[in-house]
This record gives sequence, C-alpha cells and structure tokens, in this order.
Amino acid sequence: MSVSEPCPIVFDTDSAVFNDDAAALAMLLGRPDRVEVLGVTVVAGNHTAPQGAEHMLHLLELAGAADVPLHLGARAPLVNTPERAARHEARWGPIAFKGAFDAEPDVRPPHGGRFAAVRPRPADAASFIIDTIERRPNEITLVAVGPMTNLAQVFRARPDLAPRVKRLVFMGGAARVPGNVTPAAEFNIWFDPDAAAEVLRAGVPSLVMFGLDVTNHAPVRKPLFDRIVAVGTPLTRLMQRDMGPRYARDPAATHYVWDCITAAWLIDPSVVTVSESLPIAVETAFGPTCGATSVTAPDDARARLVEVMLDLDVGAFYDLYEELLTVPRP
Ligand code: RIB
Ligand code: CA
Repeated sequence: MSVSEPCPIVFDTDSAVFNDDAAALAMLLGRPDRVEVLGVTVVAGNHTAPQGAEHMLHLLELAGAADVPLHLGARAPLVNTPERAARHEARWGPIAFKGAFDAEPDVRPPHGGRFAAVRPRPADAASFIIDTIERRPNEITLVAVGPMTNLAQVFRARPDLAPRVKRLVFMGGAARVPGNVTPAAEFNIWFDPDAAAEVLRAGVPSLVMFGLDVTNHAPVRKPLFDRIVAVGTPLTRLMQRDMGPRYARDPAATHYVWDCITAAWLIDPSVVTVSESLPIAVETAFGPTCGATSVTAPDDARARLVEVMLDLDVGAFYDLYEELLTVPRP
C-alpha cells in the first residue's frame, strides 16, 4: 500500500444519535481520500447493540453511504453487568453514566421516525472483523470507539490474527486525568474492562490511545455548533435534533466529542501535538478503580506499551470538525 492510499479501517462503535460516534463516522466518510471505511461493527455501550445499530444505519443513509456494511456485535460485556454496577454504586458511590445498562430493551426508530431501509448484514461483528483481517493481512486499522467486547471476541476466537492487524486506535481510558464515569475510569473501558485488558494484551503491533487526556481539550460550544447547524444539510439537521436542546436550555453547555478527535487524527495526524509511549494496564478487579487505565512500570506483566495521545491543536480540530460535518454528501 503506498502512502497516498486511504487507510482501510473497521469502525467498531457503541453508537450515538449524533454526538459523537455518529459524527466521527460522518467525518471519516467525508474523507475517502484518507480513510476507507470497510465496515461498521456495533457493540453494546452507549446504547444496546440493536438500538445503536439503528442509529448508525440512519447515519449511513443520511451520509450517502448505505453501501457500507454494518454488522451487529456483542450485546453485553464479558463480565460486567448491571447488577455489578449497582453493587459498585452501593459501595463506592455513583457511576455517572451506565449506558446500555440503563436502556430500555425495545428498539425504537431513530430520529427521522422510521427504520433505515438498509439492514444489518447477516454475519456478526466478530466474524466480519476476522474475515476482513484475513483478506487484508497487516493492512487493517481497527478503530474502537466503544467498549472492546467485539474485539475481545475476535482475538479469543483467532489469537493468531492479532499480529496481522496493522494497529488498534481506540477512544478510551484516562492516563493522567480523572475518569468520566467514576473518579478512576472512562466509560468505554469501565463498561468492559476485561475486554480492554484482553485486547491490549492480544499482540496487535501498534496501540494508539485517545483517552480523556486528549479529548478533554476540545469540547464543542454553542458558537461552533450554531455555525454548523446553520448550513442545513440532512446531517446537520440530525445534529440539531440531537445536540440542540441542550444548547437551547444552557447556551454555555459543552459537548465532549471524544470519538471525533480520534476520527480527526485518522484523517490528519498533525492535529495531535503531544503523545507519549506509556505502559498501560487495565484494572479489572471489582473495586473502586475497576476500568482504570493505569500508567504502570514497563516490567508490569499486565501492561502494554501504548502511544497515549495527550494534547492537540484545538483550532485545527475544530476547523476539520466543522468542514467535515458541513460538506455536501452525495
Ligand atoms: O467516554 C467517552 C466514550 O464513551 C465515547 O466513545 C462515547 O461515545 C462513549 O462511548
Ligand atoms: Ca463511542
């Protein structure tokens, strides 16, 4: 593959109506010269997997990309459960967001009021990812912007494939800043810490982490939001429906758009200005720090070296975000 060819990715997501998984996918689809989205795989996290799939199918339709295959994946984490989360809260205090653990089981039509015409493909997410890596060994970038349950299923079934992935780029964790769902843990890793621990140790040659250290730097505020939704495309109308009510209630509100920063870097790596290679271990034991991504000693057997993104050119990110969410779609 020459450097000028787009980077082939699988986008593994826990979905969002628009902020942030769906917006990240829209950004990636807007730059086919830089990124080739081979498929979207959905995992439980923000939403249940079936509900999340409906949001992403709707997004693919609005983005003119209904031909990108979508595959449903894990309905639940490897070990974590709503009951375990309740026990955590009883002993160590509130968990700020529990995503699918708090969701209704029934699947509703996404914004727009109807289900997308295109349906999920028959193969499950793990089978699709396995086939994709086999078809293009050493080429695929796995982009994980939700809990890593699907990826854990892949490497449990086919441990031999980990060295044949080009790299794993993930949104999750917090190396040197507090968590966002507990004082110690970020949501994606907290929801399925066991999957994250297994995947980081699976043997993928390059691990790139977009944790809260970098994503905290670029919240979206109302003036930027207003400029984007003023353009009035199907995508920006979805953005208005999803994110607008909060800005209407509170003009000083901020939306963190975690996964969009990961997408921006895949399109233009120069947006990240500081990163460091750090030994990262995922805390999996049931306790107050469960789900933390700890920076530990290099000889800690639980740890793997991860390129941890730490700071970014905030203005360059906002420019790319605005450009890609307002670009006309076919
Ligand atoms: O903690 C932020 C992460 O959790 C983002 O990926 C968001 O979409 C949710 O999955
Ligand atoms: Ca996400």
